[in-house]
Amino acid sequence: MRNKIRLGILGGGGDSLIGVVHRIASNMFDRFQLVGGCFNPNPKENNAFAKHIGVPLNRTYDSFDILIEEELKLPVEQRMEVISVLTPNFLHFPMAKKLLENDFNVICEKPLTTTYIEALELEALQKEKQTVFAVTYTYTGYPMVRQMKDMIRRGVLGPVQKVDLQYYQGWINPIIHDLEERAKVWRLDPKKGGASCCIGDIGTHAFDMLEYVTGMEVKQLLADLNTLYGNNPLDVDGTVLVRMSEYCKGVIRASQIATAEENNFSVQIYGSKGSLKWEQENPNRLIYLTEDKPMQVLKPGHGYLSEFAKESSKIPPGHPEGFFDSMGNIYNGVAKALRNEKHDEGAYPTIHAGVRGMLFIEKVLESHSKDNTWVNL
Ligand SMILES: NC(=O)c1ccc[n+]([C@@H]2O[C@H](COP(=O)([O-])OP(=O)(O)OC[C@H]3O[C@@H](n4cnc5c(N)ncnc54)[C@H](O)[C@@H]3O)[C@@H](O)[C@H]2O)c1
Repeated sequence: MRNKIRLGILGGGGDSLIGVVHRIASNMFDRFQLVGGCFNPNPKENNAFAKHIGVPLNRTYDSFDILIEEELKLPVEQRMEVISVLTPNFLHFPMAKKLLENDFNVICEKPLTTTYIEALELEALQKEKQTVFAVTYTYTGYPMVRQMKDMIRRGVLGPVQKVDLQYYQGWINPIIHDLEERAKVWRLDPKKGGASCCIGDIGTHAFDMLEYVTGMEVKQLLADLNTLYGNNPLDVDGTVLVRMSEYCKGVIRASQIATAEENNFSVQIYGSKGSLKWEQENPNRLIYLTEDKPMQVLKPGHGYLSEFAKESSKIPPGHPEGFFDSMGNIYNGVAKALRNEKHDEGAYPTIHAGVRGMLFIEKVLESHSKDNTWVNL
């Protein structure tokens, strides 16, 4: 039997949004085995959840610190090899730091930390330890996003000249107008979510996607944020003008108060020879526009796609794959890295992407606080 990668999980309990996505994704290519974790800070709920999902109680720990202490007592060939950090944002840094210090490989949810300085510290530690460290910008795992990346790097679009990314949700609208409801949401609490809500939570996905598919870096930005109320400290909406170079510019628009929107994330990249358009709510269609032909719609699983896109779908064309599969592709990339197998440089988002994401958040806040001026990244 194949030697499965021993996975531990922090957070992601039965009460969480993203836990089930990681558990299913880690199983998708039969490469990981969930051997233990600390899924919930309440020991009773933690144990009940571990029982429910069939994780042995002797490796279900009451706290993160106990997990590290006990796992280090095990022989290396039994110890967790990689640990996924799926807790609220403020816990990412202390958890990831201690994991790195103790030579664990890490899969960490975004945003990587709550400050850029912390992110730099983690990156320096990861370089020193040479462990595998992924940051789960989930959307980079979709086959058609990978096709987009591959077409742009092969020059199919020509030089990129205009970028437009929109990430609109509406879930904060029914919450933000009511103080009691607001107080229940950790994403709106600076102590738990960090210095930004909308830009930190979803603007970073758009920023990462932009740098991922184009292979270019944002060099300058100008941001305008909206908190909607004077007594709400964090942004719930923002518009960011970006400059990738003197002649490649665009916009990132993010909102959590776009009333009744669900998860409307769309990416539009325009080059001199053609354009690509992709929507997260319709992820199995990649629109390819050129001036000499009618609109083309590329779909997963077909022979005409790049190797990278082809290896990112598991079933024949016409069988929809989605968010879980996208995360599954990222886990598969991590598995390849852990087992020293050949993999595309975009197979999973690295810690560097996490660090760039934190720089983006801080620069957006800086630009907004300086009366919406241009700032350098
Ligand atoms: N990649 C994506 O697309 C995506 C989507 C959603 C959330 N996220 C990220 O995932 C993280 C979690 O978000 P969520 O929406 O699942 O949050 P959530 O509030 O739904 O769940 C958090 C989980 O962490 C557990 N937890 C809290 N403190 C803990 C501790 N000290 N030890 C162990 N477990 C603890 C909670 O019990 C809960 O199970 C956030 O950083 C968020 O930004 C990413």
